[in-house]
Amino acid sequence: MTVTIVGAQLGDEGKGGIVDLFGDTADVVVRYQGGDNAGHTVVHDGEEYKLSLVPSGAIRGKIGVLGNGCVVNLRTLFDELDSLRDRGIEPDVRVAERAHVILPLHRVLDGIEEDVKSESDQEVGTTGRGIGPTYEDKAGRRGVRVGDLLDPEVLRERLEYLVPQKRALVEDVYGLDPDDTEYPDAFDVEALFEEYSDYGRRLREEEMTVNAGHFLSQVREDGQNIVFEGAQGTIIDIDHGNYPYVTSSNPTAGGAAAGTGISPGVIGNGEIIGIVKAYLTRVGSGPMPTELGGVVGDTPGYEEQGEGDNEEIATYIREEGDEYGTVTGRPRRVGWLDLPMLRHATRVSGFTGLAVNHIDTLAGLDEVKICDAYELDGETIETMPSTTAQWGDCEPVLQSFEGWSDVDWASVAEKDYDALPEGAQAYLDYVSDELDTPIYAVGVGPGREESLVLERPFEQ
Ligand code: GDP
Ligand code: IMO
Ligand code: MG
Repeated sequence: MTVTIVGAQLGDEGKGGIVDLFGDTADVVVRYQGGDNAGHTVVHDGEEYKLSLVPSGAIRGKIGVLGNGCVVNLRTLFDELDSLRDRGIEPDVRVAERAHVILPLHRVLDGIEEDVKSESDQEVGTTGRGIGPTYEDKAGRRGVRVGDLLDPEVLRERLEYLVPQKRALVEDVYGLDPDDTEYPDAFDVEALFEEYSDYGRRLREEEMTVNAGHFLSQVREDGQNIVFEGAQGTIIDIDHGNYPYVTSSNPTAGGAAAGTGISPGVIGNGEIIGIVKAYLTRVGSGPMPTELGGVVGDTPGYEEQGEGDNEEIATYIREEGDEYGTVTGRPRRVGWLDLPMLRHATRVSGFTGLAVNHIDTLAGLDEVKICDAYELDGETIETMPSTTAQWGDCEPVLQSFEGWSDVDWASVAEKDYDALPEGAQAYLDYVSDELDTPIYAVGVGPGREESLVLERPFEQ
């Protein structure tokens, strides 16, 4: 059977940890979209692993697949594999031949476009990993795919078409020198050909490339279990998120089918678990109706650190939850849990279960709040409006819950739901009822053992 893990909010909900938790009975863990913009954390035996491309199942020795929906930076991939090997992990990672390759020029273009947008305060606050420009070239039918790296003739042909176009874009549209960027050879066909045909050789030698859909269907025929590991989250989905403050792929459950070659019927027959952080965080720009305080450079219209409402609560949650970006180190914006957002996410992906993380982080607050609905133009609405401008105008209708104190979370995790502080139970019950979805796991700390497991999805 299959279990699909989907971020229900704005990314960084703790997907990596839940893949690791439920991955014990999986055989293969597959990423279906995104690239090294992801930063997934697995804490095992007190050791912390931050993974941006290698699927989180690698820490338990599971086969990892990067599906056709991913965009792959080979430099990052090989660096990550090497550093895991240095730490005694032996990852077995296969890459879809249909996946697209992130080239250094994509990173350069990501940076240029963000700079240009920032002149009119329109920057997204991307991770700078070249994600958007690579998906643009994919949709424009001029991208380089992993399979192209295996055939030097095809690779050369692809580069000879793509690179001059991008040089012209940098020179003629942006008025910049393509030979003077942070990657010196980013727009040099010969240098790119050398480097990327080398990656092709390494991929071939290590037998890392696969026809992902075919490979995964064989895995299924053998009766093995598959976890689909979503990256990012619903509200930064290019279709269902708050465009244009989004990533360029589909983290929602539909992406798991398109991004792997396994049919939607199979995925829908399995479990689809929405990963929820008990509050909200956001890295980058865009609206956030329940935001507490703010982060200069990311919160729209927020000029000076400390000027926002509820700044103390924001700082408390940020420090307790260690809410600093895994990929970029940026402080994350913090807000109360937003139910209209979660209703939207539950509908889009059809969650069969929820994992709610960071219940421990909220401990110590006198009261915690949940946004039940929004006020927009004199009306009360229960789900997210489709336009980002309208979402930005939404005022949260907040409901207050009694807080809970810090307890010995490791021992709570060993017991059952009743061992959670009463306030936390009331909070979780409310969320589960409102979304009409059962809770499968409650995160009470970053470690594998610090999760209270209520349902094991592969054992249903
Ligand atoms: P992902 O991108 O969704 O995999 O999440 P990240 O790894 O970017 O961010 C989640 C962070 O919270 C990581 O540092 C995790 O180790 C940590 N974490 C996950 N679940 C919990 C939890 O229940 N409590 C606490 N305190 N930390 C958690
Ligand atoms: P994980 O998988 C949180 C955000 C960026 C930016 C927007 C677009 O760890 O949850 P991009 O570089 O993708 O073009 O940036 O999306 N973003 C994430 N935020 N977690 C992530 O991944 C993210 N990946 C991208 O901050 O606002
Ligand atoms: Mg992350």
